[in-house]
Amino acid sequence: MSHTKREPVKFAYWVPNVSGGLVISNIEQRTSWTIDYNRKLAQIAEASGFEYALSQIRFTAGYGAEFQHESVSFSHALLESTKTLKVIAAILPGPWNPALAAKQIATINHLTNGRVAVNVVSGWFRGEFAAIGEHWLDHDERYRRSEEFIRAMRGIWTEDNFAFRGDFYRFNNYSLKPKPLDPQPEIFQGGSSRAARDMAARVSDWYFTNGNTPDQIAKQVNDIRTKAKENNHFVRIGVNGFAIVRETEEEAKAVLAEIIEKANPEAVNAFGHEVKNAGKASPEGEGNWAKSSFEDLVQYNDGFRSNLIGTPRQVAERIIDLKRAGADLILLGFLHFQEEVEYFGKHVIPLVRELEAAEAVQSVAAE
Ligand SMILES: Cc1cc2nc3c(=O)[nH]c(=O)nc-3n(C[C@H](O)[C@H](O)[C@H](O)COP(=O)(O)O)c2cc1C
Repeated sequence: MSHTKREPVKFAYWVPNVSGGLVISNIEQRTSWTIDYNRKLAQIAEASGFEYALSQIRFTAGYGAEFQHESVSFSHALLESTKTLKVIAAILPGPWNPALAAKQIATINHLTNGRVAVNVVSGWFRGEFAAIGEHWLDHDERYRRSEEFIRAMRGIWTEDNFAFRGDFYRFNNYSLKPKPLDPQPEIFQGGSSRAARDMAARVSDWYFTNGNTPDQIAKQVNDIRTKAKENNHFVRIGVNGFAIVRETEEEAKAVLAEIIEKANPEAVNAFGHEVKNAGKASPEGEGNWAKSSFEDLVQYNDGFRSNLIGTPRQVAERIIDLKRAGADLILLGFLHFQEEVEYFGKHVIPLVRELEAAEAVQSVAAE
């Protein structure tokens, strides 16, 4: 498929349903984890051209995030406050089993005219698992469980008399009623390790990865798409980025410098230690954060690496570069969510659409 014939790139934002914002820094963040703030944010986002919102699941405080609202119920509240936005609820196998998840999401699907989606997270936070009495499985076992979870959830949604014999889950002659409306809820997943990619290439509708350069994203995309093709599966790609869009490049860069300067080094290093350990336990000794520097880790998911920091035009051009590398969706974090989501919708998304239209014209001319 030629890039230029692809659909317009989609935009999602991180729902700040946990406190402390999206950067581990003492810089001022005019963002709140409360429901009132989030309802208004969701309405601003859908009016600004955002198609998705991604909520987070955290059971305990870690590095920031002292307070955390639960993701499925919070997502439902946001869906009730909006008309078109799709909200992706994060679910962690372990605390959730697929029977509950499938039932819960099917009901929300009916209540919201099919606008709920799911992000199956596999876990990186050992201390959190210990705190809530969940077994900490080895890295690849976590993904084996997530894959069974996804297969079971999808099976429950689509089959009557569903039967499943897995190592983690079992179902016998189970018929969920009502099933979700068509099209089925989309299933997202996060992670960049070998196991994460292989799972995406087999069962996920969407693969979310940490921020990175277009070159590195292209490598991941080619790897996943080749494997997915072998499996007769199609998977879309979402890339994380932390957006700092200002009238001048200097202003935007100064904000980044201030975020780093005011970073909390102990918390950033402790977070780095935790996520690198979680990744090291993978057979290839890598994972989402294998190459992350101190600066990268100040944003939980390497969002600065996508370099969406500059003027509206610079950022729009870089989004097109990420799209060329294979991104179908850009997931965004901001310092001051309500103001910046609105600014992004007004000043960046229209430029992205212009650039996409210009590319389409060029490719028609070239054919
Ligand atoms: C976009 C995105 C969103 C994520 N959301 C959550 C979340 O809400 N809660 C959580 O515990 N982990 C979350 N994760 C972590 C992943 O599920 C996974 O455990 C982690 O990326 C480790 O990946 P690895 O296999 O590449 O090491 C998220 C990851 C990404 C990329």
